[in-house]
Amino acid sequence: MENFVYYTPTKVVFGKGTERQAGELVKEQGCRKVLVHYGSGSVVRSGLLDRIYGSLTEAGVNYVSLGGVVPNPRLSLVREGIELCRKEGVDFILAVGGGSVIDSAKAIGYGVADGGDVWEFYEKKRKAAACLPIGAVVTIAAAGSEMSDSSVITNEEGWLKRGYSSDLGRPKFAVMNPELTMTLPRYQTASGCTDIMMHTMERYFCNCTTMELTDGFCEHLLRTVMKNAKILMNEPDNYEARAEVMWAGSLSHNGLMECGGPHGDWASHQLEHELGGMFDVAHGAGLAAVWGSWARYVMDADPARFARYAVNVMGVEPENSDTKTALRGIEATEDFFRSIGMPVCIKDLGIDPTDEQVHELAEKCSHFRKRTIGCMKKLDVDDMYRIYRNAL
Ligand code: NZQ
Ligand code: ZN
Repeated sequence: MENFVYYTPTKVVFGKGTERQAGELVKEQGCRKVLVHYGSGSVVRSGLLDRIYGSLTEAGVNYVSLGGVVPNPRLSLVREGIELCRKEGVDFILAVGGGSVIDSAKAIGYGVADGGDVWEFYEKKRKAAACLPIGAVVTIAAAGSEMSDSSVITNEEGWLKRGYSSDLGRPKFAVMNPELTMTLPRYQTASGCTDIMMHTMERYFCNCTTMELTDGFCEHLLRTVMKNAKILMNEPDNYEARAEVMWAGSLSHNGLMECGGPHGDWASHQLEHELGGMFDVAHGAGLAAVWGSWARYVMDADPARFARYAVNVMGVEPENSDTKTALRGIEATEDFFRSIGMPVCIKDLGIDPTDEQVHELAEKCSHFRKRTIGCMKKLDVDDMYRIYRNAL
């Protein structure tokens, strides 16, 4: 086991009706004025936003609101939010929505509290000195942003999607009522389940030595998400399945699944972020589209690890070599993705990039040849190009 820091400061309030506590939870933070930040309308249609406003009013908390966050959240709205917060004297942000809304809230929080140009953090030019405190009322089990240190924003100038990680951005609290996720379209449920799995898989496949407890957590989390994702495809209102998936979403990305190992591989995520930035695909679906290609490309770096995954997670019967077992595991994963309506290649996403665009994806992903990605195998711009091509 390697040395590690496990830091999860987020208070989790989980279960039926918990959104009614939002007002009191914000009040506990001792703030003057709150920005209620939300997406493109699902929380308006479901009546959740009105319930949140009611809860804030009941607790005597002043608020202003800003909706309009889109999946692959945009920098322009972040800038608008920063202006609004400054003008209104906002000192707390309540994100009501999914990863996109929470990430946008974090970016606004950095911009307001640090004072500098927010995009510089995402470009890794410098670190944010502070962030406004954030709270989250989660409406989709997926990105895990409600407990994570990261935020991913898309800059419309150049369509660059970039992440920034800092403990300063971890939400103070997360309200998680699994019932709120019952209105999700099937595709978003499946995409969310895929993202949850990938947050654990990125950490599991990372050239690590075996960690008995952490590996066991990872394998069980993956089996649990697969089992309940399948249930949700037929029974979207199944509370227990929604609850298992929702809790898995937070645990998969709050650091627990990497304790004792490296911080993960993250190549599949980096490859997906460029797809999301250029083609605006749902994040989880984009991950499913590139994962098989990535896995086949790097598998020979650690066939035993992939074989262990095949047997312990995918239930594959061991073959006479790790490589063969590993390949069966990758195929079984793709079969699972198909079974929940997820893509297993880029064309399945409904896009057909030209060769020039594939080169552009690789160039962007390598930050114009300034970085490699991954730790299972270090991947340069040529590797990225091949993985994208093999994923077409
Ligand atoms: O905008 P609304 O109208 O709310 O619709 C959303 C959106 O269209 C809809 N939705 C959410 N809750 C719903 C609902 N529709 C009906 N009923 C509900 N209860 O679902 C769509 C997707 O929402 P979004 O917030 O984009 O989903 P997700 O949570 O998957 O977030 C994806 C974003 O998070 C980033 C991704 O890159 C992507 O930009 N990530 C953030 C991470 C983090 N901060 O730690 C880690 C992840 O790896 C990921 O990169
Ligand atoms: Zn993700």
